[in-house]
Formats: sequence, C-alpha cells, structure tokens
Amino acid sequence: MLDHFAKTAKIVGLGSFLPERILTNSDLEAMVETTDEWIRSRTGIRERRVVAEGEALVDLVARAGRAALEDAGVEPEEVDLLILATATVEQPIPATAAIVQPMLGLVNAVCFDLSAACSGFTYALNVGRQFIATGEAETILVVGAECLTRYIDWTDRATCVLFGDGAGAVVLKPGQPGEGILHLKWRTDGTNSDIISMPGGGSRFPPSSTASIEKRLPFIKMRGNETFKIAVRSLTEISREVMDAAGIGVDDLDLTRPTCGLSRRWGIAWDCRTSRSLPMSNGSATPPPPRSHWPWSMPAIKGDSNRAACCSPRPLAGVSPGPLR
Ligand SMILES: CC(C)(COP(=O)(O)OP(=O)(O)OC[C@H]1O[C@@H](n2cnc3c(N)ncnc32)[C@H](O)[C@@H]1OP(=O)(O)O)[C@@H](O)C(=O)NCCC(=O)NCCS
Repeated sequence: MLDHFAKTAKIVGLGSFLPERILTNSDLEAMVETTDEWIRSRTGIRERRVVAEGEALVDLVARAGRAALEDAGVEPEEVDLLILATATVEQPIPATAAIVQPMLGLVNAVCFDLSAACSGFTYALNVGRQFIATGEAETILVVGAECLTRYIDWTDRATCVLFGDGAGAVVLKPGQPGEGILHLKWRTDGTNSDIISMPGGGSRFPPSSTASIEKRLPFIKMRGNETFKIAVRSLTEISREVMDAAGIGVDDLDLTRPTCGLSRRWGIAWDCRTSRSLPMSNGSATPPPPRSHWPWSMPAIKGDSNRAACCSPRPLAGVSPGPLR
C-alpha cells in the first residue's frame, strides 16, 4: 500500500442533499412490529429520508455535487474527475456518474462509479486522494449517494428501520504538506459477504427473473447482530491504526462519525467522547455525515485546526477511517 504521497489532498468544499419526505419511527410503528424506543435505543435513529416518486439517484447526486462546487467556489469546467460511490445506481448502463456529468456541466471531467456499499464514500475519497497525489487530477468531485429505500423490504423490521436516502459531496484539491487528509486506511474482508446483501438484480438472479422477485431477492438482507459485532471490532482496530499512522491520539479528535448504530457503543469501546449519535438513518455509501448528515460535521471537517475521523465500517468489504485536518 502507498503510504507516502507526493501531494496531499484537501477538502475545499462540502455539499449535501436530503429528500424532503421524512419517515419517522412512529410512522414505522404503523408499518411493522417495532417501537420508537427500540429503534432509538439501539441505533440513535429518529427519522429517515425517502425519495419522492419520480425522484431518483441522479437528482440527489446533482444537488449535493452542485452545493459542494458552490461551497468550494469551483466552476464545473475546472473539475477533472467525478467519482460517485453508490450501491443503488440510476441504471446498470451507463455509469450514473456519466449521467450526472451534463447535469452539472462537468465538461472536462472523467466520470465513473465506485461500488463498495457502506464503505463507498471513504473508498472514493481514498481513490481521489491518490489521483491528486500522482498529479493525475487537480480538482475532484467525490460524491456518496444512495436511494436505499427503493431496495427495502417494508415488511422486514430488521432492515426497514435502518436505511434511508441522501447524498453528500466533497471537492478535493491539492494541499500543502501537513494539511488536508492526514491518512486513510482501507481493508477488504469478503469472508462474511452474506451478512448484508442484496442478492437479486445481478447476473446470478437477474431482474427479469420472476422467481427472484417471488423470493424477495432484490431487497436488502441483513444479519444485524453479527454485522454489529464485526463492525465494532474492525472499526476500533483500524481507527487505532490510522491514528497511529497519522501521529494523533483520541484526545486530539474534535469529532468522530461512525456509521449510525455503532456510534454509542463504539465510542464506549474506544473511550472516545467525541463520538456522537446521529438522529438519521444509515445511507450506505452516503458519507458518514449525511451517510446522511453533513451539517453536523461541516465545521470539524473543513476547519483549519480541527480534525475529524470519518468512519464507515463495512465488515464485508472494509473499514476506511480517515483523520482530516
Ligand atoms: C440492527 C441492530 C440495531 C439490531 O440490534 P440487536 O440488539 O443486535 O438486535 P438483534 O438483531 O439481536 O435482535 C434482538 C431482538 O429484537 C428483534 N428486533 C429486530 N428488529 C426489530 C425492530 N425493528 N423492532 C423491534 N424488535 C426488533 C429481533 O427479532 C430479536 O427478537 P428476539 O430476541 O425475540 O429474537 C444492531 O445489530 C446493529 O446496529 N447492527 C449493525 C447494523 C449496521 O450498522 N449495518 C450497516 C453496516 S455498514
């Protein structure tokens, strides 16, 4: 793995977009056998956002991407590269990033999608960082976005309470030594690939298969408790590794953002007072703050003196925390 980079990458702009429709825990009480208390006590989630009929992934990506460009003061034609992390593409062909390109006027950008489910945003951030390090790109738009509610089985209380829709985006530029992203680590462990999955809709169980729909395969399946244990353990391990590599300790952190559901217990396991629960749902590749919630984290992520660790545990495919300055 590369450890020393010619140039550092710095986040110079942030944007997010959440659909208007709110589905509260009380709404879910009327749909499945659950309670607001059960959901809040285990996950911290009070509500999730849901795309409107007619709204789709590109709409979320374009809104978040535009906001990040405006925040950075970057013109669309300056962007060299758009990396879109998502598990819920607009359609299999073409790449969703290519559909978004003309919507944002990114006339000079190479555009591609990156698939790493819940770790998607941090993977995309790391890929973008390396394009900057090699000098291959100067201005990069990294977006994480999901329309997960389109793949939820609304009769399955184990999953429908957790996931939601949203998009978050950052603009990366080269930074001076010592600023920007201090370090990122990523890992893949495919041995538990069936803990969270969406088996239908791919080449094994294509969308055209009626048997696939009858077996409810195009929906998200999750063994939550197993996921939780692996996620907390691997998140703790890799967070320590990345902080050691960056030369910082827990007390140096102003903010940590693990994926929802893990915040409270991870914070305790880690003795980290900065780990804050999020009131909103898990948005998979959507960055940890929105994974649907940028506004809470913006000052720490963009501030000159603050550091934040954005962590997205995906026990099946990796954990990629990254202290930022
Ligand atoms: C999903 C999660 C909140 C469930 O909490 P848990 O304490 O592990 O709960 P369990 O799955 O062991 O289930 C405990 C009980 O609650 C029930 N239950 C499950 N979902 C429920 C719901 N929405 N409402 C009420 N009860 C529910 C189960 O059926 C089980 O009942 P039983 O004891 O009668 O069999 C937790 O496992 C978690 O946060 N997992 C990680 C999820 C995650 O982050 N996924 C994305 C990773 S990127």
